[in-house]
Amino acid sequence: WFGHVEPAAKDPILGVTEAFLADTSPDKMNVGVGAYRDDGGKPVVLDCVRQAEQRIAGSMNMEYLPMGGSVKMIDESLKLAYGEGSEFIKDKRIAAVQSLSGTGACRLFADFQKRFMPDSQIHIPTPTWANHHNIWRDAHVPIKTFTYYHPESRGLDFSGLMDDIKNAPDGSFFLLHACAHNPTGVDPSEEQWREISHQFKVKKHFPFFDMAYQGFASGDPERDAKAIRIFLEDGHQIGCAQSFAKNMGLYGQRIGCLSILCDDETQAIAVKSQLQQLARPMYSNPPLHGALIVSTILSDPELKSLWLKEVKGMADRIIGMRTALKENLERLGSPLSWEHITNQIGMFCYSGMTPEQVDQLTNEFHIYMTRNGRISMASVTTGNVAYLANAIHEVTKP
Ligand code: LMR
Repeated sequence: WFGHVEPAAKDPILGVTEAFLADTSPDKMNVGVGAYRDDGGKPVVLDCVRQAEQRIAGSMNMEYLPMGGSVKMIDESLKLAYGEGSEFIKDKRIAAVQSLSGTGACRLFADFQKRFMPDSQIHIPTPTWANHHNIWRDAHVPIKTFTYYHPESRGLDFSGLMDDIKNAPDGSFFLLHACAHNPTGVDPSEEQWREISHQFKVKKHFPFFDMAYQGFASGDPERDAKAIRIFLEDGHQIGCAQSFAKNMGLYGQRIGCLSILCDDETQAIAVKSQLQQLARPMYSNPPLHGALIVSTILSDPELKSLWLKEVKGMADRIIGMRTALKENLERLGSPLSWEHITNQIGMFCYSGMTPEQVDQLTNEFHIYMTRNGRISMASVTTGNVAYLANAIHEVTKP
């Protein structure tokens, strides 16, 4: 039956983890996938999560959630993205469903887009998270790319970005990273976001925000929602994919939220019912445990403030490792500029290394990362930063 099936290509991010696991070298290091580690290199379960689990354990049952997921979890997620006192929440203008983390939120939106705007396209930045391509491709939405990154400055190509926004057909769908752009770690400034939002208004584009790293850019989830808040102030209707994988360390729980701001409550009810309809034949209803953890933490002032402290702790540790990596490279006498390591933000450093240099890092130093030169700074520790710096210096020496 299946003799014609060829093996699929390895995933550019998760395939790195597979290769890392197969390596037996004691020196091996995985800076591929964006998953936070403590300074000892171990996965972290946040204290607020442990405490929430204890509270949940005695009282939960194992019933199905509704097709749209936990209402309490959704309410709390919306407050995080749209703001505690948001008029849109009050006016019930947001259609929202619990999603299988950020990926599931993007996919549900892509399927919704295909079903209700069948002739539309999605504009995604170059570069972007590799899975964005897969998601919209599998939803059969044609993909266009727009300028984002400036390789020479290793920063934002703002004029290229603005030109592409202006040149796209009116009323286009755009995917924007709300904060801590993956893979580049390069975000527009507040002023630039205002200009982008203004141009979106002029062009009547629809902004879909992927917010996978709320809290990881600045250490403060409220500040990291700034781009979204600017668009809301300017009167845009937006879509938003939220994930609690990174900021609560709930990677394997697959917990997130998809929201779409509508004209009014009636439209929001219709849109939500259609999102549920899309979910039903795919996975019926979303999983319970992560939803309980998130809603327990966010609805309890004590657990929420513990969470905010812990997110900041993770973000600060990464910032410290950026400085350490840059200093180590300078100490080794690297003649190249490594300013971008500390200028970029979030989980990743877009190092500028070529695919060949990355291959050399892997083959000679057992350091695993994606071939686009992205380093997951969340896996760099005081114990391995010198080894990483030395290896980078060796492969980038002119
Ligand atoms: C990443 O970019 O490393 C993460 O978002 C994990 C993933 O699913 O690719």
